[in-house]
Amino acid sequence: MKGTFSLKSKVAVITGGAGLLGLMHAEAVAEAGGTPVLADIKEVAAKKAAKAVSGKYKADALGIGADITDRGSVQKLLRTVLRKFGRVDILINNAAIDPKVKAGDDRSWSRFENFPIKNWDMEISVGLTGAFLCSQVIGSEMAKRGGGVILNISSDLGVIAPDQRLYVKEGLPPDKQPVKPVTYSVIKHGLLGLTKYIATYWADKNIRCNALSPGGVYTGQPDEFLKRISSRIPMGRMARRDEYKGAVLFLVSDASSYMTGANLIVDGGRTCW
Ligand SMILES: NC(=O)c1ccc[n+]([C@@H]2O[C@H](COP(=O)([O-])OP(=O)(O)OC[C@H]3O[C@@H](n4cnc5c(N)ncnc54)[C@H](O)[C@@H]3O)[C@@H](O)[C@H]2O)c1
Repeated sequence: MKGTFSLKSKVAVITGGAGLLGLMHAEAVAEAGGTPVLADIKEVAAKKAAKAVSGKYKADALGIGADITDRGSVQKLLRTVLRKFGRVDILINNAAIDPKVKAGDDRSWSRFENFPIKNWDMEISVGLTGAFLCSQVIGSEMAKRGGGVILNISSDLGVIAPDQRLYVKEGLPPDKQPVKPVTYSVIKHGLLGLTKYIATYWADKNIRCNALSPGGVYTGQPDEFLKRISSRIPMGRMARRDEYKGAVLFLVSDASSYMTGANLIVDGGRTCW
């Protein structure tokens, strides 16, 4: 079985590659012998992350600046990848904007009644339109070349609604309480629809498309939040940042060769409750 997990000679484009999980996906690809391309709007951070991955795994990782909301930028990204490596085998649609409601803000802007159209447009353009554009441009190339794999990074919140009680701030009246924005739900549920659409549309082109729905990652959140969220997770804790590597490798390698149009939920049991 071991060989089916190998990504030897495979090139994987990872959007949002400079972010917390993008870097982990890149490490998973490199560790399995593949070549990760870390594409991010933050060009300097993407290059730095790629250098770190190359050093750690003796890989030829590439960091590259790209804005996935811009078709021209995605086409340029593909041209660069093809020029450098001559192929593209895997696309991980990972980039997203997860707007944090900061202390000190009037946090009621995040509420459904007040949610600004400007934020709606901006977040959808990255999380959903960006995934569509990358799939269209890079997926079409893979279809032309005889196959490939697309992995869409959704979320436990692509399966369940956010429990807004997690975000309650003591001392604020109900109409001023911050909430998880509606955009996150819409984007993450939408990615599951995109996954099924592409899986069926390109099945005859040997392209598999699946989704991964991770639960929240521990990044030093405040104790009160940790207590609340842990009580809603059967395993009683948030994820470590490296706990999705195995699932990512499974989904982008031949180990999942008979799987398409599916959503793999890795969330410590959160969505069971
Ligand atoms: N971290 C979590 O707890 C968690 C849980 C479930 C799902 N997810 C999902 O995993 C994915 C990665 O999350 P993360 O925590 O690593 O986020 P992150 O914010 O650390 O990384 C996202 C990256 O996307 C990049 N990006 C933003 N706009 C872009 C654009 N227009 N073009 C190219 N790149 C752009 C950002 O610069 C950033 O580096 C997201 O889709 C997120 O919703 C994360």
